[in-house]
Amino acid sequence: MKDQSSMGMNRTGMQMSPMDSKAMQAAPSKSPGRVPPGDDTAIAEMRSSYITEADQVGSVPLPGTMKGVAKAGVSKLTGNEPALLLDKLGERLAFERTGTRLYDALITKFEALQDGTTSMTLADLQQIREDEVRHFSIIADAIESMGGDPTSQTPCADLVGVESMGLMQVITDPRTTLAQSLHALLVAEMTDNAGWEMLIALAEENGQNAMVPDFSLALDEERMHLQKVQTWFEEATIGKVISDGVVVDDVTDTNSSQLH
Ligand SMILES: [Fe+2]
Repeated sequence: MKDQSSMGMNRTGMQMSPMDSKAMQAAPSKSPGRVPPGDDTAIAEMRSSYITEADQVGSVPLPGTMKGVAKAGVSKLTGNEPALLLDKLGERLAFERTGTRLYDALITKFEALQDGTTSMTLADLQQIREDEVRHFSIIADAIESMGGDPTSQTPCADLVGVESMGLMQVITDPRTTLAQSLHALLVAEMTDNAGWEMLIALAEENGQNAMVPDFSLALDEERMHLQKVQTWFEEATIGKVISDGVVVDDVTDTNSSQLH
C-alpha cells in the first residue's frame, strides 16, 4: 500500500530559507502606500478587458431534424427553454462519459495497488462504471427525443470537459494513492448528484415529463455512488474499514472505535 502522508524533505515551503522568508514578509510593511509586487491589480485589469470583449463558449447546436426544430420553436413560444435543457443534457452526457473513464482509471489503480484497506471491491467499481455507461445512454436517448444530436458538443459540455481534466489527471497519475484518487472521484460524484437534480427540474419545467422517471432512477443510483465513494475515501485515508459508521480496527476485532 502506498503511504500518501510519508515524511520527506521540505522542498516547497519557506521554512527552508528563514532569512529570505523574513525579508519577503517584511517588504510590504517597509513601504506603506506602495503596491507590493505580486498584487493582482494588473492581471485583474487585463482579465476585465478580455471578459467584456469575449464571445461566449460556443452555442447550443440546433436540432437537426424538422420535428426537433418544430418542437424547439413551439417550446420557445410557450416560454420554455429547450436550448438550456439541450445544453444541460449535453453537459450531463459529457460528464457521464468522463465518469466512465474515471472508473476505468480507478479500476486499473485498484488492481495495480492491491490495496486491501477499504471495503471497496472490484465488483463495486465495475457496477458503478456500468451505471455511468447506462446514464450516458439515457441522456443520449433524451437528446434524440428532442431532435438533438448527442454527438455535438454544447457549451456546458465543453465546460465540464475542461473542469474534469484535473480529476482525470489525478487518478491516472501513477504516483497517486487510492485515497488521493478517491478524493478526485468524490468531486465527480458530488457533481453528478447536483447535475441530475438540476436536470430533473429542467425537464419538468420544459414539459419533458417522459424523461423524469429515468432521470430519477439515475439520481438514486448517483446518491448510492456518492455514499460509497465517501466511505471508501474515508477508509482509504485512515487505512481502516468502516462498518455502519464505526471504524473496524481489525476485521476480527470486536472493539471498534467511532469515527465521527
Ligand atoms: Fe456516479
